[in-house]
Amino acid sequence: MSSAVQPKKIWWKESVVYQVYPRSFKDSNGDGIGDLKGLVSKLDYLKHLGIDVIWICPMFKSPMDDNGYDISDYQDINPEFGNMADFDLLLKECHARGIRLILDLVVNHTSDEHPWFIESRSSKDNPKRDWYIWRDGKDGKEPNNWESIFSGSAWKYDEKTAQWFMHLFSARQPDLNWENHDVRKAVYEMIRWWLDRGIDGFRIDAFTHTRKEPGLVDMPNPQNLEYVPSYAKHMNVPGVLDYVQDLAQNTFNHYDCMTVGEANGVNAAEASEWVGEAKRRLNMVIQFEHVGLWDTNPDQRFNMKDLKRVFNNWQKGLDGIGWNALFVENHDVPRINSKWGDVKNYWRESSTSIATMYFMMQGTPFIYQGQEIGMTNSQFAGPEDFNDVSAKNYYVAKRKEGKTDAEITAELNHTSRDNARTPMQWDSSANAGFGTGTPWLKINANYKNINVAAQVEDPESIFNYYRRLIRLRKDNEGLVYGSFDLVDADHKDVFAYTRTYGAQKFFVVANMTPKAAHCDIGALSLKPENLLLANMTVSDKSVEKNLNLKPFEARIYKI
Ligand code: GLC
Ligand code: CA
Repeated sequence: MSSAVQPKKIWWKESVVYQVYPRSFKDSNGDGIGDLKGLVSKLDYLKHLGIDVIWICPMFKSPMDDNGYDISDYQDINPEFGNMADFDLLLKECHARGIRLILDLVVNHTSDEHPWFIESRSSKDNPKRDWYIWRDGKDGKEPNNWESIFSGSAWKYDEKTAQWFMHLFSARQPDLNWENHDVRKAVYEMIRWWLDRGIDGFRIDAFTHTRKEPGLVDMPNPQNLEYVPSYAKHMNVPGVLDYVQDLAQNTFNHYDCMTVGEANGVNAAEASEWVGEAKRRLNMVIQFEHVGLWDTNPDQRFNMKDLKRVFNNWQKGLDGIGWNALFVENHDVPRINSKWGDVKNYWRESSTSIATMYFMMQGTPFIYQGQEIGMTNSQFAGPEDFNDVSAKNYYVAKRKEGKTDAEITAELNHTSRDNARTPMQWDSSANAGFGTGTPWLKINANYKNINVAAQVEDPESIFNYYRRLIRLRKDNEGLVYGSFDLVDADHKDVFAYTRTYGAQKFFVVANMTPKAAHCDIGALSLKPENLLLANMTVSDKSVEKNLNLKPFEARIYKI
């Protein structure tokens, strides 16, 4: 049993966050691209779902090389999404419904069209030269062997001054130099400008990459294929926490706002350094340890033992110390039901079982658009069907290794970020009700069956199951603040846990396989009248010791 101090109460712990990828959410003007007015038109839908906070992915001015994660003006709106008046309307309409709005803060890099970079590249003695990371080449080649996270070298040669600049992401996303205090000052001013405008916080993009190992020496062993090890010299490098501290002290800590940092490379043991409340750095982080369990091999399911180890470490590591962000989907990963569930035979059951599993842990749950209706991975026929810059770079890199386009396409169908970016499926009409124009990315062919209109009125739908999950957290403080303890911890198919908060106690169980399973509940006693939620009809009488579960069955009890 956990004996941790009870967490301090605050609004962002009691919230459920909904992530919007604006390009794919709702198109209001028929140009095939989602926009701010489209989002405004769907706020009542989100209110009905019951969420409290919207995190909107970048809608700032951008040449859209990485769909907005390449920003050319932090204080303006990209015309395809609307304008500042539309943004102000969005903020006002959110607040009028009691919904808070957080923005994406992308400050590891800018676009190569940002005025800062245009100045920086103009001459070696420009005052902004040092705002980015410029180096001489080595023997006519890149300054070092670092690789971009989007495949290929992390350096690009610039003829004008005959030097190379660093880009950890696409070649059109030059990295800012966080060593430089003028850079920080300019970034902090921009952040305060948005907070003063009334937004409610930020999701902070790629921040663990801001600090580069001094000296920028070669990686000992560049491994194209190994996701994590090849980033060692620019991911969660010592010193990055000083940047976080400086950032928070100069901005967030002066506002009542919510902060969630994308924290690639941070593990549970270090988590308290990032989100420990006493440190006053960030409120929570989006960690990648369980995302790492998404395997590229389509035939391999996740390993339950690893999944439990990762979640348990984060739950135990932060209980009473800091706070977790709970998520299983976002715009960078394939759809979770296609990955961990069985969308062919148990689409509804597996989508709701996974939902139950992650939603009731200690932390703030995040729902990625479309997840609440069980949207699945798409089918891409070939290179022309993909939009994502990282998928495009991947074709180039893999062709060099001798792979055929068909082989690369088959792999990307399982792994590509575009799986999560197909337009939101609103109804069964043309373009899935996304808009009247041809969508920028092909709509998933299953939209006639999987869409919002088909689910809102159906009490048994995935959508209404999510509504109940949200409601349960609102009605039971213990499901927000309670301590987490695994039950039948070694079970390889079932994820089960209790939540304990003073005298309140809950039991959550999810069979994550397409087979029937038993769960050993030990001394717990589950009474039918204490069943709070289930994703299928439950026939058991009171249960002691052994709980029988159907394929992908999930239940929540008060005990
Ligand atoms: C983050 C974003 C991703 C983006 C990258 C570069 O990982 O989530 O979408 O491509 O940073 O900004
Ligand atoms: Ca539009």
